[in-house]
Amino acid sequence: MLDVLPQADPRAIRSRQDLRRINRVMATHSILCRGIDAATRGRPPRRIVELGAGDGTLLLRLARRRAAKWPGVEATVVDRQDLIASETRQGFATLGWTLRVVACDVFEWVDEADAVPYDLSLANLFLHHFADEALRLLFSGVAARSNAFVACEPRRAATALFGSHLVGLLGCNAVSRNDAVLSVHAGFRDAELTAAWPETHSWQIDEYPAGLFSHCFLATRRGG
Ligand SMILES: C[S@@+](CC[C@H](N)C(=O)[O-])C[C@H]1O[C@@H](n2cnc3c(N)ncnc32)[C@H](O)[C@@H]1O
Repeated sequence: MLDVLPQADPRAIRSRQDLRRINRVMATHSILCRGIDAATRGRPPRRIVELGAGDGTLLLRLARRRAAKWPGVEATVVDRQDLIASETRQGFATLGWTLRVVACDVFEWVDEADAVPYDLSLANLFLHHFADEALRLLFSGVAARSNAFVACEPRRAATALFGSHLVGLLGCNAVSRNDAVLSVHAGFRDAELTAAWPETHSWQIDEYPAGLFSHCFLATRRGG
């Protein structure tokens, strides 16, 4: 529902606030940080892209945690809507990170992304929007433009489904309550994301359940 609401609709604004709360409860930040450490093997990335980045606040939290070790990063956020508030832009600037906002459909980005590969590509609560064929197309584009990819998605499992029915207890609105349940049904388990990755010879792949509700996928280019 959030995807089809106009960005200024009060229900959409509220639902994006809910998403921040849901990410906290899912421990997304820590899960992503662990995945990023594994995928980058301690090498500081200079160029990062987040796909389906929403309001960019998750990436800003990551930037705040990593800026001391990762100076001068060029961060790109791709989302159909430009949802980046001025305080968020300012937050990146204060850390000395450059922020580029690309407001387009991710498949336009796949077609048009510049030739310089990203050291790290990220996605959170994003891949489950796509059916198999679209996911394969997206992964081909990501693999062609990245040295490492880390994704954190809803886990399609009973615990996550149970949790998704309880987001109302966090004060989430009707849009978030609807989307939470649908997102778990559309989520991933086992090696489903690995199966959609274009090739595994030149990539180190890891896919695993994380925390109570999440499912992670890591891909690191061998020798990258
Ligand atoms: C569930 S939200 C997650 C936002 C953010 N990653 C987070 O964790 O808070 C999914 C985001 O994907 C974006 N999105 C959905 N389909 C997209 C597409 N085809 N191209 C670009 N962005 C898309 C939506 O606008 C939305 O901001």
